[in-house]
Amino acid sequence: MSSDTRLTAAEVAYWADRLDQAPPETIVAWAWDTFGDRLALASSFGAEDMCLIDMLTRVTKTPRVFYLDTGVLFPETYALIHETEQRYGFRAERVLPRLTLEEQAERYGDGLWARDPDTCCMIRKVEPLTRYLAGVEAWMTGIRRDQTPFRANARVVERDEKFGVIKVNPLARWRWEQVWAYLQARGVPYNPLHDQGYPSIGCAPCTRAVRPGEDPRAGRWAGFGKTECGLHK
Ligand code: ADX
Ligand code: SF4
Repeated sequence: MSSDTRLTAAEVAYWADRLDQAPPETIVAWAWDTFGDRLALASSFGAEDMCLIDMLTRVTKTPRVFYLDTGVLFPETYALIHETEQRYGFRAERVLPRLTLEEQAERYGDGLWARDPDTCCMIRKVEPLTRYLAGVEAWMTGIRRDQTPFRANARVVERDEKFGVIKVNPLARWRWEQVWAYLQARGVPYNPLHDQGYPSIGCAPCTRAVRPGEDPRAGRWAGFGKTECGLHK
């Protein structure tokens, strides 16, 4: 499989403009028609990704969905992965870091996330993602423009220079309320932590609940000046 894209820069720009105001379902269907099984959906099984899984399984029975299993996701997340596979009838690909948690602890000491989250994210998320994306032409993600200042510039279709593939962000234009309304309207399963003050859910050691009025991402890497783990910038 190619690790690069067959779309030219001009075609990417054309579709980014053409689909910018399109409903996410249309963008998902376009991505499937364009890339087929050379497209993979990156899922952390958060609310946004559950919308995308629901949309993608409406256009294909054989979606390619993968998750970066850091080994320290919440038990609720692992349970939701299983529930989603049963409900939609596909198996998500589990992408593992090269180091087990034990090997990481031997090499870097216990609880690396609490001392050096950038190195931990590099080992447990970014390197595995880089390896995985070498085998696809396009990846689809649940990022939204209002999540972080960096994501404010996300296009619905763009070239991902970091990984050398096309990146499709069907929910770029959506706000949290639209994500939530979609889940409710379609009866899509979601992580119960969302009902317990966790709008954004990552690894358990690096995610806490947010208080009313706090930024929805305030619970990610709280105490560090970190808002991204390196997947999206
Ligand atoms: S993060 O960079 O801060 O961790 P965030 O949790 O906002 O990302 O998720 C944004 C998008 O990144 C998700 O919609 C999903 O597409 C992708 N993503 C995040 N974490 C994972 C993961 N563990 N496995 C696969 N994809 C992920
Ligand atoms: Fe490590 Fe935390 Fe990054 Fe997960 S989010 S890979 S535990 S630093």
